[in-house]
Amino acid sequence: MTTTHAARTSTHTTLHGKVALVTGGSRGIGAATALRLAREGADVAVTYVNGKEAAEEVVRAVEALGRRAVALRADCADADEAAGAAERTVAALGGLDVLVNNAGVGVLGPLDGLALTDVDRVLAVNVRGVFLTSQAAAARMAAGGRIITIGSCMAQRVPGPGGTLYATSKAALIGLTKGLARELGPRGITANIVHPGPVDTDMNPADGPYAAGQAAMTALGRFGTADEVAATVAYLAGADYVTGAEFAVDGGHAA
Ligand SMILES: NC(=O)c1ccc[n+]([C@@H]2O[C@H](COP(=O)([O-])OP(=O)(O)OC[C@H]3O[C@@H](n4cnc5c(N)ncnc54)[C@H](OP(=O)(O)O)[C@@H]3O)[C@@H](O)[C@H]2O)c1
Repeated sequence: MTTTHAARTSTHTTLHGKVALVTGGSRGIGAATALRLAREGADVAVTYVNGKEAAEEVVRAVEALGRRAVALRADCADADEAAGAAERTVAALGGLDVLVNNAGVGVLGPLDGLALTDVDRVLAVNVRGVFLTSQAAAARMAAGGRIITIGSCMAQRVPGPGGTLYATSKAALIGLTKGLARELGPRGITANIVHPGPVDTDMNPADGPYAAGQAAMTALGRFGTADEVAATVAYLAGADYVTGAEFAVDGGHAA
């Protein structure tokens, strides 16, 4: 029996019947990703810390697409809450197939201006939380599970001073991703990392004071959109034979 190209493509993109957990899904790249995965057919849990109303809006938008959704307050910086998000997703939606480690904080500034609290905060949210959520999710995933982590173009190339702490945290996620790929590959679970370039969100508005310089560092000369990052996450959620890989969605920042 032959399979058409269209049928193969559709098999590789549809997430019908899958459950996704998107950390930090109330705004920005996380919200766009939650909606994109829902459009591909997934039911979606999103976590948030402060943005309860924004997260509930994302839930309503997912439900309007005919999918199930739940908003969970879970601070990645808290070890129990980071790990607990996976179990709460299973309890609310009946399983967990796709984890998107999106929640993150950006603390930029000169080395001698960074306090111990800054270091602890960034590593707790961007690294320890991602590790613990991935660990808890992997324990609940069956074959076909997907772990997709949002890194940063600054994990690959730090184009100027002030990014040491943030780059440290995001570069750690490359090691996490490769380690997870090796450890979970035998179970049929993949792990990949997406490195956005400058993307227009609350964290990094395209009309902010440093925006022009960031846009100029990309080959395309512009900020990306959250939807452009979400499209690559959705691709990875449906990709079977891709693991341990880094994907720059950065307009050529690393070129
Ligand atoms: N924007 C960029 O230019 C850019 C570039 C490269 C990489 N990234 C990465 O992309 C990811 C998303 O960034 P973004 O620009 O969309 O950020 P954003 O607009 O600031 O949104 C951040 C999201 O993460 C949530 N969040 C923050 N701290 C959290 C915590 N401790 N626990 C759980 N959720 C938390 C926020 O939830 P609440 O508001 O509800 O608290 C919000 O939903 C981050 O990992 C960031 O480092 C962004």
